[in-house]
Amino acid sequence: MNKRFSASACGKIILLGEHAVVYGRPAIAVPVTQVRATATVKPGEHGLFIHAADIDRSVAVDSANSNDPLAAIVNLTLAHLSCPRPDLEITIRSTIPIASGLGSGAAVSTAIVRALAQWCSARLDDAEVNALVYEVEKLHHGTPSGIDNTVIVYQQPVYFIRDAAMQTFAVAQPFTVAIGNTGVASSTRITVGDVRTGWEIDRARYEAWFDRIGAIVQQARSAIESGAIDRLGPLMDQNQVLLRDLDVSSVELERLILAAKQAGASGAKLVGGGRGGNMIALVDDRSVAAVTAALKDAGAVNTIVTEIG
Ligand code: PMV
Repeated sequence: MNKRFSASACGKIILLGEHAVVYGRPAIAVPVTQVRATATVKPGEHGLFIHAADIDRSVAVDSANSNDPLAAIVNLTLAHLSCPRPDLEITIRSTIPIASGLGSGAAVSTAIVRALAQWCSARLDDAEVNALVYEVEKLHHGTPSGIDNTVIVYQQPVYFIRDAAMQTFAVAQPFTVAIGNTGVASSTRITVGDVRTGWEIDRARYEAWFDRIGAIVQQARSAIESGAIDRLGPLMDQNQVLLRDLDVSSVELERLILAAKQAGASGAKLVGGGRGGNMIALVDDRSVAAVTAALKDAGAVNTIVTEIG
């Protein structure tokens, strides 16, 4: 039998609102389609195996730890589909850097769910895929808000509030973001945990920071919806100040942020969990080349330019 099915999922960035989103404030996330994770399912022998060379993992699903995210998404999906456990080989290829705020874990899970659904001749709607991927996000992140899985599964810009219905919104005028990778792997589970520790010690101070981030996100949404992109850069800068207050920035991130700003970006901030991973800079046709060059000079191991909207 030569049956073989593939599915892929994009990466993502959080434009504004990370961390505060865990505490019920809104955040805006957008898909990054230049990077993708792809899962291919084909017949195997003697059980279920996952090979993920790009993320340096090989997993025998039947004997894996129940906390293993790759094994968990396979087990959850097969159970949800009431699909008999076949002998399968699942190969993952991904161009999304891991542990860097671009949604690698959620994209890999999404690709696996969709490829397995095809294998089992089942149809899953986006809400079902999203619920399955969210379960595994808990293994990656501990207390995820759900923003990563939502933007990746629906592959649309989202205005996300935890436990509320997903909202998409119109991008009145497309805009361009340069993404710079510090090359420093950072665990979102750790930064989210550290923010929680700080919040437990001084709730009033953290809640005030979260409120300010939430207000920035609301203003950013109306700027994007009305095409007032000139208002977006300063809002990104204000968000970065608050992320620094939350202690999730780092020397490497700050170096890239400063370089981007000096090269003409109208706003710049870290994305995702922070303390490493990626930063983003708002650019236009005139500044994009100078900003990406400046990011590389300042130590970015990789840059991606993506258009939103
Ligand atoms: O590091 P990432 O891109 O997975 O983003 C995590 C975003 C946080 O707000 C820090 C956590 C969350 O679950 O929303």
